[in-house]
Amino acid sequence: MSKGFPHLIDLNDYPISWWNKIIKLGHDIKNNPQDYLDVCKGKIMATLFYEPSTRTQMSFQTAMIRLGGSIIGFDNPSTSSVFKGENLKDTTKVISSYSDILIIRHPNEGAAKAASLTSDCPVINAGDGGHLHPTQTLTDLLTLKEEKCRLDNLVIGLCGDLKNGRTVHSLCKALSCYPNNHFVLISTEDLKLPAYVKDVLTVNNCKFTEVSSLEESLPSLDVLYMTRIQKERFASEEEYLAEKDTYILDRKKMLRAPKDMIILHPLPRVEEIAIEVDDDKRALYFKQAEYGVYIRMALILTILNSKTIFPNLVGQPYLGVACSNPKCITNYEHYLPKSFRGIGDIVECEYCDERVLLK
Ligand code: CP
Repeated sequence: MSKGFPHLIDLNDYPISWWNKIIKLGHDIKNNPQDYLDVCKGKIMATLFYEPSTRTQMSFQTAMIRLGGSIIGFDNPSTSSVFKGENLKDTTKVISSYSDILIIRHPNEGAAKAASLTSDCPVINAGDGGHLHPTQTLTDLLTLKEEKCRLDNLVIGLCGDLKNGRTVHSLCKALSCYPNNHFVLISTEDLKLPAYVKDVLTVNNCKFTEVSSLEESLPSLDVLYMTRIQKERFASEEEYLAEKDTYILDRKKMLRAPKDMIILHPLPRVEEIAIEVDDDKRALYFKQAEYGVYIRMALILTILNSKTIFPNLVGQPYLGVACSNPKCITNYEHYLPKSFRGIGDIVECEYCDERVLLK
C-alpha cells in the first residue's frame, strides 16, 4: 500500500469548509484567469479513463493546460496495456510514478478508492461506475452558487435515473450538508435513489419526497436536475427500453416551471431534454459544463498544494465475507483487501458503500 495522499474519492471525506474554499477559488479563477496561467508549471497530470467521457476528461485536461501544467494518459483502455490484462494496481503504481496527480474514471464501483491504495500521488475520482462523481458535484455547486447565488434554501428536483446516476448520488450527499434544501426525487419505481443516499439525507435532516410526475413537480422547483437513463448500467436492452422515454422535458412542460427555475444536466443528454429547450434562458447545462473547467482548475491547484493525508482503509475484513455488489471493484481485482465499515449484522463495503449482510 502507498502512504496517504490528499485523494478526492468522495466529497464527503472533506468538510464543507473545504468545498466552499474550492468554490470560491473557482469563482476567482473564472473572473481572473490571467492570475493562474503558470501556477502548475512543471507538474504532470495523468488521466486514466477506463470508461468513455467527453466533459470530465477534456475539462480536466483543459484545466491543467490553462494552469501551465502538462498531461499524459489514455482515454481507451484497449490502447493501453490494460488490454493485455494488466491489473489496476500495477497501472496505478506505474502511472503515479510518472505524474503528480492522477484522474481516474472506471466502470467499477470503488475503483478510485482501490487505485488510491497503491498510488504514489493524489488520486481524483472522475466517476466510479454508478457510485460517485465528486468533481461533477463541485461543478454543480459552483454553477448553483454563480447562477442562484446560494447553496441552501433550494428546492431541487432530480429527475430520471436516480438509481444509477452517480452525479445524482454525489450531488444529494453534498447539498444535504447545506441548510434547508428540499429534494424532489422524480423517478420510476425501478430507478429510485439508492437507500444509502436516502440515509444521508435523513441523517442530515433533509426533507425529500419521492414522486413519479415531472409535470406536477415543476411549479415548486428552484432547480431541475435532469439526468440520462444510464443505458450502460442496465442488465438488458429490454429493461433499458422500458425506462428510456419516461421523462422528456420539452417546451410545453417548461410552461409549468417558475420563471427563475434553472435547468441543469451533467450531460451527455440523449432524449430527456428536447433540443427546443436549449433556447430557453433557464437552460444552463452548457454553461454548467463550462464551469467544470474553472472548478477543476481550482481542485487541481488545491490538491497539489494540500498536505492532507487520508488513511488507506479504516474498516475491517470479515473472514469469508465478500461485497454483494456485483459491480464492486473488489469482485474484479481479487488481490484487494476487503474492508467493511460499521458494526452489527449489516456493514458497508468501504469501496462502493454497498450494504452487506453478515449472516
Ligand atoms: N458529466 C460527465 O461526466 O460527462 P462525461 O461523461 O462526458 O465526462
